This record gives sequence, C-alpha cells and structure tokens, in this order.
Amino acid sequence: MQIDRWVLLGIMGLLVSSSAFGASSLRMLAEKKGITIGAAVGLPQVTDDAKYKEVVAREFNVVTPENAFKFAATQKGLNTFDFSQADQIVEAAKKMDQKIRGHNLVWHHSLPDWLTKGRFSNIQKKEILRFHIQSVLNHFRSTAQGRIIAWDVVNEAITDDGKLRSSFWQNPETSPDEYITLAFQWAHQADPTVKLFYNDYSAEGINKKSDAIYHMIVNLKDRGVPIDGIGSQFHLDLKDPPDFASVKKNMQRFAALGLEIHITEMDVEMDLKKVNKATLEAQGKIYGNALRTCLGVPECKSFVSWGFTDKYSWIPSFHSGFGSALLYDEAFEPKPAYQALVKVLEQEG
Ligand code: XIL
Repeated sequence: MQIDRWVLLGIMGLLVSSSAFGASSLRMLAEKKGITIGAAVGLPQVTDDAKYKEVVAREFNVVTPENAFKFAATQKGLNTFDFSQADQIVEAAKKMDQKIRGHNLVWHHSLPDWLTKGRFSNIQKKEILRFHIQSVLNHFRSTAQGRIIAWDVVNEAITDDGKLRSSFWQNPETSPDEYITLAFQWAHQADPTVKLFYNDYSAEGINKKSDAIYHMIVNLKDRGVPIDGIGSQFHLDLKDPPDFASVKKNMQRFAALGLEIHITEMDVEMDLKKVNKATLEAQGKIYGNALRTCLGVPECKSFVSWGFTDKYSWIPSFHSGFGSALLYDEAFEPKPAYQALVKVLEQEG
C-alpha cells in the first residue's frame, strides 16, 4: 500500500512538471493549431540575457528581428552591407529551432543619414532600392535556408486616413506608388521561394486605412504583382481596442484575395500610472481576442508580439508614460495576457 502511494505521487509529480515545462508552452500549443507564435527579438538581449533567451526558446517558434534586418542595420554605406547583427539573430533562431519573419525591406522610417542626406538622383535612388532588396534577399536565402516564413516587403505605406504616405522612396517623375510595385517585383525576382507581405498598423478592423490597403492590394494583384500576405501590426491601446467582429471581417476579405494573414507586432500599451490587476486582466482579454480571431480565420497563420517582456519594450521610449504592453513583466513573470493566450490555444477548436 505504502509503495503504491509513492508511485502515485511520483506519477502525479511527473504530470505536474510536464505541464509546467512544455505541454503548456505557447509554441507547443500553437504547433497543434498549425500556426506560428512568436515575438520580436532584439540585440544584445537575445545573445546576452540568460532569462530572456530561456523564455524565447521555450515559448516561441518564430521570431522577428526588431531592428537587425532593417535598412540602417544592414546597409551601412552606399553598397556597403553589414549583416553581422542580422546573422546573430539567424544563428540564435537556428539554435532555438525557430522560423523568422523578415522585417523589413522598404520603409519611410529609420533610414540612415548617408542615404537621406546623400542628394541622390531619382535614378540613383531607384537603383539603391533595387540593389538593397536584391542583396538582402540573396544573403538570407543562403544563410537562413528556408527559415524565413515571410518578408515584410513594404511597411507602413498608407496613412490613417487612407492616403499614400509620402516616402523617401517615391519618385516625383513617376506615379507615387511605383516604388511599391517595383519592391514586390524585385523581391520576387531575388527570391521566388519566400512569401512577400505588406505590413501596416491601425488597420486591424474595417476602416479608411484598411480599405485603402485592400484597394491597393487588389490593384497590385490585378496587375500581376507578386504579393502573398498581409501583416496587421496590432499596436493597440488598452483604452481603445478594435471591434473584433470587424477585425474578423477584415481578415476574411483579405483572405478572399488569396492572401495569408499574420498578426505581426502586437502590444497593448497602457498608462503606467494605471497598471493594476483589473487593467492587466483587461489587457489579457484583448490579447486573447486577437489570437481567437486569428484562429477563427484559417488563412491567419502567425501571431507575433512586438517583444515579450516589458523589460525591453519599445513603448516607453515611443510613448512617454505608457508601457506594460507585453506578455511578461520586467522580471519575466508571465502576466494575465500570457495566460489568456494559453487559454485560447487550449480551448479554441
Ligand atoms: C521600432 C523598434 O521597436 C524600435 O526599436 C526602433 O527604434 C523603431 O522601430 N512598426 C514597425 C516596427 O514596423 O519596425 C517598429 O519597430 C515599430 C512600429
């Protein structure tokens, strides 16, 4: 009788520990649902911070380099490429058996001074963009070997009121959106094996901005421009979450165009003076609703947050007084938002 009790306790212990270390990790649950789940990762934390690495490896099966693949990080001077930061991210992802979302090739923001102050002619700018896209894709085609599940080719090209945003990359001698068409065509020529995405924020539900993006993509597709997916960033504010019925309808209309959908940069910022149990629970609901909506649309295949620990979130420096936007607090303790994602992955059909 005594022995039986010990055996039983042992089995119970094993069950408890296996559910604490593995069975309930986000990546294991997401794999069962056929989606990738991940976070943006940054340097040097992904190589140097032991706690950070432990959580990334355990919880996520896809990572997005927060800055290391961007123009300023990869092209340090005219035609001078430096992939040292990017390669560290790729190596870390290989060790942790993770996919990568490539981010990004063409953006109006975060461009290096040598480029924006360089007084290049329109023809030179066009050639710089073509060579950048080709060089970056060639590099990763050989180093990341199929690990990149998507590239955000064009990032944030539409304004909140549905207009084309003015960008360094526009050529006043041609149509203002020509650079978008060319970017997708050049990307496809450089690597026909990788999925090409358009990525933007504040376009989660149906609104002026998502309408404009929708029409832009219809137009690209009508002209045979290669585009495979749409990234919806989901930089949200606790006070103003989207209407998730509208988010679902929006995802469905993009899916009907034959596009894959990714949630690419989710965070839910809040007033740092108002962080408490109730606000953190409310934040968890928003995370849960976003993931549930994604799981409800078969073409939604990836769910990525913009970081995972408040220790390294971009929000406090971008929006002073705001933060606490991610799944883990600054001490790497999971927040209600993390539990909400686990619950959705465990429950949804
Ligand atoms: C942000 C990074 O988090 C910051 O570290 C950097 O200084 C600026 O860019 N939309 C995007 C991301 O597509 O690339 C941005 O990342 C956040 C908003």
